[in-house]
Amino acid sequence: MVSTQSSVPPPPLYPAYLPVRPEGPSASVPHPPFEAEEPALRADPAKPTIFKHEGLTYKNLTPRIGTELRGIQLSQLDAKGLDEVALLAAERGVLVFRDQDFADIGADKQRELARHFGPLHRHASMGYPAGTSSEFHVVYADEKIGNFRDLLGPHTSYDLWHIDQTWEINPPSTTFFWVLENPESGGGDTAFSSLTHAYQALSPSFRKTLEGLVVRHTSASIGEIKRMGYEKATKEAAITEHPLVIKHPVTGEPVLYVNPTIGREIVGFKPEESDLLLNFLHQHIRSLDFQARASWEPKTVVVWDQRTTAHSAIPDYADGTRRHMVRLSPLGATPQPYGEIPGWQS
Ligand SMILES: [Fe+2]
Repeated sequence: MVSTQSSVPPPPLYPAYLPVRPEGPSASVPHPPFEAEEPALRADPAKPTIFKHEGLTYKNLTPRIGTELRGIQLSQLDAKGLDEVALLAAERGVLVFRDQDFADIGADKQRELARHFGPLHRHASMGYPAGTSSEFHVVYADEKIGNFRDLLGPHTSYDLWHIDQTWEINPPSTTFFWVLENPESGGGDTAFSSLTHAYQALSPSFRKTLEGLVVRHTSASIGEIKRMGYEKATKEAAITEHPLVIKHPVTGEPVLYVNPTIGREIVGFKPEESDLLLNFLHQHIRSLDFQARASWEPKTVVVWDQRTTAHSAIPDYADGTRRHMVRLSPLGATPQPYGEIPGWQS
């Protein structure tokens, strides 16, 4: 039998973007609180720069979440166009931009475009391309480093629904994630769930109960504990409290702001009560009723609003294959409650 598999893996397509971290990991990096501008609030609601762009085609991935766009280059948009991207991301949850030159415009231009949406989050432990900084978050798997399944150990499922870095006082807003190299085996999509529609699926009386609650978020996430070890991750952890139901800073809509890997405790509840409620909500946001999958065709950039959307990697690709992605996460407004929370101070 002739094997079609080569024993020597091909070199990476984007060696300049391989992850390095010469200073080593830390448990958290301080990001001082700030008053966020929220560029979407400046946008023309009709979004003419996008929707009157010659050659644009687009389709909704599902009625509730996700829009795929072709024929428009993110790298060519002016400030007005970028404001419109922020607004469309807030409304649709996730935007899948195809045929982008974004991966080839260089780190300075990538950073400049993402900074339009807010100051960039600096990751405490992940690698970044040499010569850049921890604002760049490289997601990388290969035959030596292994993949996400290796990090998490044996499980029946590798769904890991979350919102990025919600232990921040100003958590991530309009986030950019792009592909450099896809696994040869296929797979490696990213799943997105609408937390706005997750909230709307609940009964009015249950919603009212949730609106008065607060969740404690910690940088000692499930992933960070695996990467750093329990003791280091928890000893130096950053901890912040956010309302369980937030008012979206752009759309004003209520959002079920749950984060299974990071927001693991309801403030004031006993552990059993907190686990019972959060376990239900964490299952609830996995519903296919308000989900979409982004597939990573070459030259795809995904832009999503982390205040209305949770996401999960789908590490279904074959062991030993390379997958190479990069993320930049602008920080946005401090989450505010949708309803009344006794004693809440914003
Ligand atoms: Fe993530």
